[in-house]
Amino acid sequence: MADTSSKPRNLGASLPVPNVQDLAARPACLDHHVLHRYLRDDDDAPAALSPSSTNYAAALAAASSSVPVVDLARLLDPAHADDEAARLRAACEDWGFFHVVNHGVPDEVIHDVKEVIKAFFQLPLADRQALAQGPAGVEGYGQAFVVSEDQKLDWADMLFLYTQPPEYRSLNLWPSRPATFRDSLHRYSLAVQRVATHLLAAMARNLGLLDHQDTAAGNGNQNQMTAIAAAQAVRINYYPPCPQAHDRVLGLSPHSDAVGLTLLLQVSPVPGLQIRRGGAWIPVVPLPGALVANVGDVIEVLTNGRYKSIEHRAVVNATQERVSVAAFHSARFDAGTYGPIQEIMRPGEAPLYRTIAVEDYVKLVLSNKLQGKSSAIDAMKINY
Ligand code: OGA
Ligand code: NI
Repeated sequence: MADTSSKPRNLGASLPVPNVQDLAARPACLDHHVLHRYLRDDDDAPAALSPSSTNYAAALAAASSSVPVVDLARLLDPAHADDEAARLRAACEDWGFFHVVNHGVPDEVIHDVKEVIKAFFQLPLADRQALAQGPAGVEGYGQAFVVSEDQKLDWADMLFLYTQPPEYRSLNLWPSRPATFRDSLHRYSLAVQRVATHLLAAMARNLGLLDHQDTAAGNGNQNQMTAIAAAQAVRINYYPPCPQAHDRVLGLSPHSDAVGLTLLLQVSPVPGLQIRRGGAWIPVVPLPGALVANVGDVIEVLTNGRYKSIEHRAVVNATQERVSVAAFHSARFDAGTYGPIQEIMRPGEAPLYRTIAVEDYVKLVLSNKLQGKSSAIDAMKINY
């Protein structure tokens, strides 16, 4: 019998494509033929929707400076919790993206994980490729979901690893060099999972799902929101510079995150993340020391659309590499269902999304990605 307590395997499959870091390091190899696979059509290119008129640039700058900021220390301090919870609610309802400051991840944990990640990407190509994704797996080093020869490719490489719970790990795909990589990622993973748990508990409270007493009693109280902090995977993105065509390629194609809650760490201060808002792509300029949080598709489903999963993408820089670490949180694969949470539905409110087993949702997401779709949320919508 299948072991349903373990994560699904052998669900992904991707065509082999060049290592982008290697391509970028050997510009002589980057002839027109190769570059062509990365060049976007005009309406898809980074410049689209962000014309360089000064008014427009000013509007963008204003919009970007108002990406909300949530202070986790205040959220956990009874003297300020209500105020900060209101900010969190507005961030979830209006933006779907927010910076998290005073998140409590110790400086040395962040410092160490950044160092080992930088060191990993400095290893010779052959050493990195020793961790290459298998032909039918999503974990490991490579590029995600390349399904056709015509597909425009992202100007990036990535290392995707399950991190929590520990039994989901494929340690054979975790770098063993530098020697402290595994320990550093382990410690970062735990600290970030704690941030996710606190944010989800506060969201649950905002939704009327937990009263203050439950929260005070500690994290033993699981509900459908806090349950989506139980499993975690990280996607470590490496975006090489692209002096040839940085304004014609994308580091990461537009997508929404198929998971519950994403927490993103910028390894270097180079900006690149953009979110779709009001028909424009708005840059999320990194705040030093902060994490960027975003509502994923699963939260949109659980909240019956009160909190929206926002489309986002990454652009690349002409001269500087950029590295980011996205930590994706979701429910354990054997943990019941995803669907609108009954307790938060108003009388007569119609469910906008289907309810399906977590495991089936994971399969749905992967099969959608294998069809080249940027999001699986449409497949969850109920059409009345
Ligand atoms: C992701 C993602 C953005 C970034 O990994 O899903 O959206 O800035 N990353 O790297
Ligand atoms: Ni994303």
